[in-house]
Amino acid sequence: MSHPSKNTTSSIQPETTRRDFMVLAGSALAGVGAASVAWPFVSSMNPAADVLALSSIEVDLAPIQPGQTIKVKWRGVPVFIRHRTPDNIKEARNVPLSDLPDPQADEDRVQKGHEQWLIMVGVCTHLGCIPLSGAGDYGGAEHGGWFCPCHGSHYDTAGRIRKGPAPKNLVVPQYAFLSDNRVKIG
Ligand code: FES
Repeated sequence: MSHPSKNTTSSIQPETTRRDFMVLAGSALAGVGAASVAWPFVSSMNPAADVLALSSIEVDLAPIQPGQTIKVKWRGVPVFIRHRTPDNIKEARNVPLSDLPDPQADEDRVQKGHEQWLIMVGVCTHLGCIPLSGAGDYGGAEHGGWFCPCHGSHYDTAGRIRKGPAPKNLVVPQYAFLSDNRVKIG
């Protein structure tokens, strides 16, 4: 199980007091020294460091073995990270788009050069339950799909809805690889 580490990027904390702010804002309104007050004004609107830390997480992928899925928490929701096997990828890419309720190519759900990593928000697109990894008609160790037990939605090895009431594929969040084994989500 990998433990995400919080993004350590910190914001510049506003040092201005309320009085300073009012004076600065007043100056801006008066059109005096507009350029010099712009930074304190913007700085005072920056989110606090703890809010920034919650907005993105970094995950070490090295311990996740092929065929394994982990769950991390990001912005209060679960995110699935699956290390897909070559067979998983092949299976996902062999599915005709016409078979999919929410047609989307596997290539569009992963990043080029990192096709083995499938990263998705672990929230069913029907009514928001958390699907079970490796379960359902497209689950099992060899497929690695997901099953939502609330009302029976089956997702395939690319996290695409295949059967059941869920209208959409599991959502792929914004993420970026910092290296081959490190990803930043958010
Ligand atoms: S919430 Fe997942 S099938 Fe209804």
